[in-house]
Amino acid sequence: MNDAATTTTRQRPEHASARETAALLPAGFELGVAMASYQIEGAVHEGGRGRSIWDTFSHTPGAVARGETGDVACDHYHRYREDVALMAELGVDAYRLSVAWPRLQPDGTGPVNRAGADFYSRLVDELLGAGITPVVTLYHWDLPQALEDAGGWPVRDTALRFADYAVTVQELLGDRVHRWITLNEPYCSAVLGYGTGRHAPGVRDAGRSLAAAHHLLLGHGLAVEAMRGRDRDGDYGITLNLEPVSALTDREEDRAAARRSLTLSNLLFTEPVLAGTYPEDARRLWSAVTDFSFVRDGDLETTSAELDFLGVNYYFPARVRAVPHREPDPALRAVDDLGVATPLLADDEVTEMGWPVEADGLRRLMVWLRETYPALPPVLVTENGRACADVVVDGAVDDPERIGYIDGHLRALAQAAEAGVEVRGYFTWTLLDNFEWAEGYARRFGLVHVDFETQARLPKASFSWYRELVAARAGSA
Ligand code: FCB
Repeated sequence: MNDAATTTTRQRPEHASARETAALLPAGFELGVAMASYQIEGAVHEGGRGRSIWDTFSHTPGAVARGETGDVACDHYHRYREDVALMAELGVDAYRLSVAWPRLQPDGTGPVNRAGADFYSRLVDELLGAGITPVVTLYHWDLPQALEDAGGWPVRDTALRFADYAVTVQELLGDRVHRWITLNEPYCSAVLGYGTGRHAPGVRDAGRSLAAAHHLLLGHGLAVEAMRGRDRDGDYGITLNLEPVSALTDREEDRAAARRSLTLSNLLFTEPVLAGTYPEDARRLWSAVTDFSFVRDGDLETTSAELDFLGVNYYFPARVRAVPHREPDPALRAVDDLGVATPLLADDEVTEMGWPVEADGLRRLMVWLRETYPALPPVLVTENGRACADVVVDGAVDDPERIGYIDGHLRALAQAAEAGVEVRGYFTWTLLDNFEWAEGYARRFGLVHVDFETQARLPKASFSWYRELVAARAGSA
């Protein structure tokens, strides 16, 4: 990559907001970027990597927009040095990466695959050399296909395999990596993967989806216990995608709908993890599709293993109203067919994903967490960002909407901290435009534009803004 645009950022006027916002952040606040293995690495057939459920799914006709796949993605597997250099130029404290399970254990079990291990080892060294702290997510959705063939997350054994894998990764990188996130967004793995079929492995089965949710959290807890047993000084957490949920009106049926929505999007995950219990209405809501017999004695003690931090991904709020179920027969209903709708409102600003923008939702979510869980561990926002209709004009990408989004959410976070929530940091999603799952490459979330034909990286205006923010924060610390 010798294209000048890949290494230098165009000179832009300073943004007063970056300095002002930096001054609002709590002392010691960490700023980073987040990415995930399948969305960026490519090289799916290299270095002995096994197949994951996303390889299978993305090659299934009709599963991903325009038939796009992560086969090449951002080619980060080969270009990681250039990408770490971009992070260094950005000045971030930390990088939240994920390791691909099938690169390390091609079939999801057994001895580590050396070439895969070497790749992550080199990446970690490169980061440390650049003064960037690696925060490693163990599972960002790329389950080895062999484990799916054996039943996937609806099967209890997958949780045990995950804990073994976690220890394998810790043995490999634990001399240099001390901060671990077990799972990314188990809601998406369980509900989109096994409930609606929108994500890999594309299954639509409410009962299996709920079993998957449980086994994901069980795997999380087993992994935390095993890893903490090996290294007491490590920091262990999980990343949940959560929504501030409110009823669209004061009508009783809308408030009841909001409660059902809250159970699926938040409580099904926060209760087992933070309170060691299941939401009280879960059994009733899904009584026609499961008896929850997958929950065994002692499981909830494991799912609620002590955490050093809670990772939260926030993109949009849920404003809920009651609607008729899509399927009248409860036994045939999809897991998310709860008689709820989250309509867009007339004055909503909407992203390219169709998601409404509401920065204050992040403050409300943080306050809800603190009020609901008195023993809440410190929080890290592990993803937040927006897709924009970015275009390259005269060798530059101007993305004021992204700057406004990140700025607004950081300010909301500063208010949450002011209100007493212990928020330790913020990782924006994302550094590079990348493979946005079922939406393919058309949804650009990066601070850096990627030309997927040439792989040229071009920092956007938001990159300069974020760099100023990080520099100003460092200056004000
Ligand atoms: C989250 C995912 C992440 C990315 C963003 C936009 O749900 O964790 O990989 O796709 O959404």
